Amino acid sequence: MIMDKEIKAYIFDLDGVLVFTDELHYLAWKKIADKLNIEFDRKINNRLRGVSRMDSLEIILEKSAKRYSEEQKKALAEEKNEYYRESLETMTPDDVVGKVREKLTELRNAGCKLAIGSSSKNTKLILNKIGMTDFFDAISDGTNITKSKPDPEVFLKAAEMLGIDPQYCAVVEDAESGIDAAKAAGMYAIGIGEAANYHKTDRPISSIMEI
Ligand code: BG6
Ligand code: MG
Repeated sequence: MIMDKEIKAYIFDLDGVLVFTDELHYLAWKKIADKLNIEFDRKINNRLRGVSRMDSLEIILEKSAKRYSEEQKKALAEEKNEYYRESLETMTPDDVVGKVREKLTELRNAGCKLAIGSSSKNTKLILNKIGMTDFFDAISDGTNITKSKPDPEVFLKAAEMLGIDPQYCAVVEDAESGIDAAKAAGMYAIGIGEAANYHKTDRPISSIMEI
């Protein structure tokens, strides 16, 4: 396994790592679940981390006795995204977790490339809101992948955009599905939050500053 000194690129997940949008995703899905009278709590929500919008809806609907058509599912996912985007409207550069900017600058000064690897189709909107688009050499997100985490596609695309071999890439993730994706990509997996306690995580951290 690679040592920290051999890492040439860091690929950051966005939701739940650089910004606390994981809570906003939860609140938007909670509105949908409540409307449909489906049991949904933060524990179930942990299964949605890193998972695409449509796959997240499928997980929520597991608790429903009612069957939904593809058309109805599409409408529900769109409604959730409207609630979610409404909650992003008030987001500002102050909503970035702790001293993320300082840490990214430090990594860049140490010669590392930086990328985003997120399943979200709202990635560019969020990076724009928090004024961090220019911090990254590559952005791989829900708009350039066909399979979401735990599939490694999003991270492999990021490595390809950076021109760095996957074995020299480290992924920073809060989702078990993201750690699975990083390992499937042959990358070093740094876990924060929920992912810090996951057995497949190579290195658990409690704050980005520990990187
Ligand atoms: C991931 C989140 O980053 O993006 C998931 O962890 C979310 O919870 C997924 O479902 C897709 O996001 P979006 O913004 O495209 O609905
Ligand atoms: Mg995440």
